[in-house]
Amino acid sequence: MTDLLSLPARTLPLIIFFFVASFVSNGQEIPSEPAAISAGETLFNNNCRACHRVHEKLIGPPLAGVTQRAPSIEWIISFVKNSAAVIASGDEYANALFNEYNKTQMTAFSTFSDEDILNILAYVEAEAAKGPATAAPTPAEGAPAAAGEEGVPAAYLNLILVGMVVILVLLLIILVFLISAVKRFLDQKDLTPEQREVVHAPFTLGSILRSRGFIFIVVFVVASLGFKAVINGLYSIGIQQGYAPAQPIAFSHKIHAGQYQIDCNYCHTGVMTSKNANIPSANICMNCHNQIKQGTLTGETEIAKIVRAYETNTPIEWVRVHNLPDLAYFNHAQHVNVGGVECQTCHGPIETMDVVRQHSLLTMGWCIDCHRTTELNTRGNAYYDRLVELHSKTSEGAMKVMDNGGLDCSKCHY
Ligand code: HEC
Ligand code: HEC
Ligand code: HEC
Ligand code: HEC
Ligand code: HEC
Ligand code: HEC
Repeated sequence: MTDLLSLPARTLPLIIFFFVASFVSNGQEIPSEPAAISAGETLFNNNCRACHRVHEKLIGPPLAGVTQRAPSIEWIISFVKNSAAVIASGDEYANALFNEYNKTQMTAFSTFSDEDILNILAYVEAEAAKGPATAAPTPAEGAPAAAGEEGVPAAYLNLILVGMVVILVLLLIILVFLISAVKRFLDQKDLTPEQREVVHAPFTLGSILRSRGFIFIVVFVVASLGFKAVINGLYSIGIQQGYAPAQPIAFSHKIHAGQYQIDCNYCHTGVMTSKNANIPSANICMNCHNQIKQGTLTGETEIAKIVRAYETNTPIEWVRVHNLPDLAYFNHAQHVNVGGVECQTCHGPIETMDVVRQHSLLTMGWCIDCHRTTELNTRGNAYYDRLVELHSKTSEGAMKVMDNGGLDCSKCHY
C-alpha cells in the first residue's frame, strides 16, 4: 500500500525532468531544410572534415549517429564550442571519449552559433541516412571515355606511319629500277670513256660525304638547331616549371591531402577570401601533431621539428615554390571562389606529391590562354546577370573571361 502511494511521489520528479528535457530539446531541433543542410555541408568541409568523416573513423569518431549516441544536442553544442571545458567539467561521456581518442584535443569552435552547429548536424544526419558511399563511380565512368579519346588517334598515327614507310620503300624500289634502266639505255649509246666513267661511278659513302649538297644540308641543320636552342634558352629565362625544392620539414601532401583527404582550405586558409593562399603556421600542424608524434616514413624526427618550432615560436622556413614577379597581380579568391577553378587546374595533382612541384608555366601566355578559352562562371552570381544579358545581345557563344576584361593589361599589372 505504502509502495503504491509513494510511486507518484517518486516518478513525479522524473516526469517533470522529461517534460523539461523535451521542452529544451524542442528548442534545439535539428533542421531538415535543404538550405540548412547545404550550409552545414560547407561548414563541415571547411572545419570538421580534417578530422571527421560521416561514416569512417579518422582523427576523431565518425559523426553518423552522434545525436543518438551523445548525451544531448546541447551537450554536442557545448562540446563543439569548447570540448576542453566539457572534459574539464568532469563529464563522464566526454572523458571516456577523450581517453578513447588518446587524449586528442578537438579544436574549439567558440565563434560558431548554435545554428551553425545544428546545420552541421543536419548535414551529418542527411549523409548518414544515405548510408556509406559505395566505390566512387566517377573514375569508373571517366576511364573508358578517356581511353577512347586517347586510343583512337594513337592507332591512326601508327597506321599513318606504317603507310608512309611502305610508300617510301616502294619509291626507293622504283628509283633503283629507273637508274638501272637509264644506265642500260646509256650503255647502248656511243659514250666517251669519261662519260662512261661518270655513268658507272661507284656510289660510295665517301662520294656522298664530299658532295656539296650534303655539306650544305648538314650546315643548315646544325645552324637551325643551334638557333632554336638559343631562342628556347631566351624564352625559358625566369620560367621555373618543375621546380621542386627540398623543404625544411618533409611535409607530404600525398599523406595529408591524399591519404587523409584533409581539405586544402584547412591549411591554406586564405584561398577562398584573399589574394594569398597562405602557408599554415605550426599551430595548425599542432592541432593534430600534439598527438601524432610518429610518422610511418620519417619516424619522429620530422614531427619533432614542428614541436620545436611551435614551442620556441620560430616560424618554419618553408621554401617558396610558386612565385610571380612583382609586376604581376594574381588573386586566389577571384579564381577559386568566384571563378570556381580547381586548385589542380593550376597546381596539378598536389595530393599525389610528396614534395610540391611547380606544375604550370606561370607565364603571361599561360594566364592569357586560359582567359581566352575559359567561360566565366556566372551561375548564381547576380553581379554578372546584366553583363551576360548584354553580352548575349552583342556576341555569340558563352561569355569568356576575356570578355570581362581578362586581357586588360591593368587587371594583371600594377
Ligand atoms: C583537430 C581535429 C578535430 C576537428 C577539426 C574537429 N574535431 Fe570533433 N573530435 C575530434 C576528436 C579527437 C574527438 C574525440 C573526443 C576528444 O578526443 O576530445 C572529437 C569528438 C567530436 C564529437 C563527439 C563525438 C561522439 O562520438 O560523441 C562531436 C560531436 C564532434 N567532434 C564534432 C565536431 C564538429 C562539428 C567539428 C567541426 C565544426 C569538429 N568536431 C572538428 C577531433 C576534431
Ligand atoms: C596539413 C596542411 C596542408 C594541407 C591539407 C594542404 N597543404 Fe598545401 N602546403 C602545406 C605546407 C606546410 C606547404 C609548404 C611546404 C611545401 O611546399 O611542401 C604547402 C605548400 C603548397 C603549395 C606550394 C606553395 C608555394 O610555395 O608555392 C601549393 C600549391 C599547395 N600547398 C597546394 C595545396 C592544395 C591544392 C591542397 C589540397 C589538395 C593542399 N595544398 C593541402 C600544407 C598543407
Ligand atoms: C588534420 C590532421 C593533421 C594536420 C593538421 C597535420 N598533419 Fe601531419 N600527419 C597527420 C597524419 C594522420 C599523419 C600520418 C601519420 C602516420 O604516418 O601514420 C601525418 C604525418 C606527418 C608527417 C610524417 C610523415 C611520415 O609518414 O613520416 C610529417 C612530417 C607531418 N605530418 C608534418 C605536418 C606538418 C608540417 C603539418 C602542418 C603544416 C601537419 N603535418 C599537419 C595529420 C595531420
Ligand atoms: C588560376 C590558377 C590557380 C588556381 C586555381 C590556384 N592557384 Fe595557387 N597559385 C597560383 C599562382 C599563379 C601562384 C603564385 C602567386 C604569386 O606568386 O603571387 C599560386 C600560389 C599558391 C601558393 C603559395 C602561397 C601564396 O599564397 O602565394 C599556395 C599555397 C597555393 N597557391 C595554393 C592553392 C590552393 C590550395 C588552391 C585551391 C584552393 C589554389 N592555389 C588554386 C595559381 C593558382
Ligand atoms: C585555369 C584558368 C586560369 C588561369 C591559368 C588564370 N586565370 Fe585568371 N581567371 C580565370 C577565370 C575563370 C576568371 C574569372 C573569374 C570570375 O568569374 O570573375 C579569371 C579572372 C581573372 C582576373 C579578374 C578579371 C576581371 O575581369 O576582373 C584577373 C586579374 C586574373 N584572372 C589574373 C590572372 C593571372 C595574373 C593569371 C596568371 C598568373 C591568371 N589569371 C591565370 C581563369 C584563369
Ligand atoms: C591575365 C593576366 C595578364 C594580362 C591581361 C597581361 N599580363 Fe603581362 N604578364 C602577366 C604575368 C603573370 C607576367 C609575368 C610572367 C613571367 O614572369 O614570365 C607578365 C609579364 C609581362 C611583361 C614582361 C615583364 C618582364 O620583366 O619580363 C610585360 C612587358 C607585360 N607583361 C606586358 C603586358 C601588356 C602590355 C599587357 C596588355 C596588352 C599585359 N601584359 C597583359 C600577366 C598578364
